[in-house]
Amino acid sequence: MTRTNIASLALAILFMLAVAGSCRKKPAPDPTPQDSTTTLTPDTIRTPLYFPQPIIPADNQPVKEIAQLGRMLYYDTRLSNDGRSCAGCHIQSIGFTTHSMLNGTVVLPHVNMAWYNTFMWDGSKTGTLEDVMTFEVQEFFATDLNRINTDPIYSTLFRKYFKTNTITYKHLAYALAQFARTMVSGNSRYDLSLRGIVTLTPDERAGKELFFTERGDCFHCHTNPVMTDNAMHNTGLDSIYTKDADKGYYNVTHNTNDLGKFRTPNLRNVALRTRFMHDGRFTTLEEVINFYDHGMRKVSNLDPIMLLPAKEKGLQLEEWEKQQLIAFLKTLTDTTFTTNPAFSNPN
Ligand code: HEC
Ligand code: HEC
Repeated sequence: MTRTNIASLALAILFMLAVAGSCRKKPAPDPTPQDSTTTLTPDTIRTPLYFPQPIIPADNQPVKEIAQLGRMLYYDTRLSNDGRSCAGCHIQSIGFTTHSMLNGTVVLPHVNMAWYNTFMWDGSKTGTLEDVMTFEVQEFFATDLNRINTDPIYSTLFRKYFKTNTITYKHLAYALAQFARTMVSGNSRYDLSLRGIVTLTPDERAGKELFFTERGDCFHCHTNPVMTDNAMHNTGLDSIYTKDADKGYYNVTHNTNDLGKFRTPNLRNVALRTRFMHDGRFTTLEEVINFYDHGMRKVSNLDPIMLLPAKEKGLQLEEWEKQQLIAFLKTLTDTTFTTNPAFSNPN
């Protein structure tokens, strides 16, 4: 070997070492999965005093940092495989729903879900928020876990908060559930009136009276203060069920007695929506009230509450009473909720 040959060989080796070195410049993996320096801040779900205790599983107690991580995920389009984020359909400014539909189904709002044990229009999901969130990431979005695991920020945060080197659907669901549990609406005009901070107008007060007494009789299903009883009811919307989607709870149980039963929707922020009922058949609150007033079909499994004495022919309200009910429904709008920066896109 000549001297020049040796020199160029040495140069080549040096070059190769340099390239190899640069390839190794990625951050060295954390040797310990447990990062003992991380402090987690325990939190409580803040609600007005008249709210019941929220449902919180023992193994996912509220932690500020984890709820914040859930918020990042909620707004992250990389959770889906087609560029959608949760917030793409659950839009904060209109109470975490959208005016569009998905396959003929109205997108359910996200509000006060910390009190739910039944989810979806047809009650097809039961359990905790953690359970429904697992469905959302694992089945609805079929999130590509590899994409999340190779993201340096998520891998660092999940390692810190969940002490794990591998992010699973369960971890994503737990973080999302924590964020969802913080989405509490308790500052509507209705709430402020309960706390003596505002006085409702005479029409709003009359509407409230109709809602919470046998005259309007809404409260048996839209129960105070969450505004849903988590239960399935046939309210007589249909007498024949042409579309599968109209069969409701029947699709879950295959029991004919459950035909046309739907989970009572939450009425908080209802005035911000433009599609009502599972299939969005009504587009105004007037249409909804007219249905309760005289549109009900007498099907065999009609909810007994719908047939209470004096209701057999519908509510038969006076025009002004309908307007009063609507005025009351509008007091359930909570703009501190729909504009709360804590629920907005953090990314
Ligand atoms: C393409 C629109 C769309 C996207 C994106 C979307 N959702 Fe939904 N979501 C819906 C629809 C529609 C429903 C009602 C479905 C039903 O009841 O059959 C719903 C219902 C829900 C419910 C049940 C609420 C209740 O009151 O029972 C939860 C929880 C939920 N979504 C969470 C999520 C999460 C978390 C994500 C992101 C991982 C997400 N959604 C993304 C459309 C969407
Ligand atoms: C027997 C139980 C029951 C009673 C009583 C009842 N509701 Fe409902 N309500 C439901 C169910 C269930 C739905 C959803 C039905 C569907 O989508 O098929 C619903 C839907 C609604 C909706 C549409 C909400 C949305 O997001 O689409 C409004 C508004 C509403 N009810 C208001 C009222 C008012 C006002 C009263 C009293 C006049 C009342 N409800 C009485 C069970 C009830």
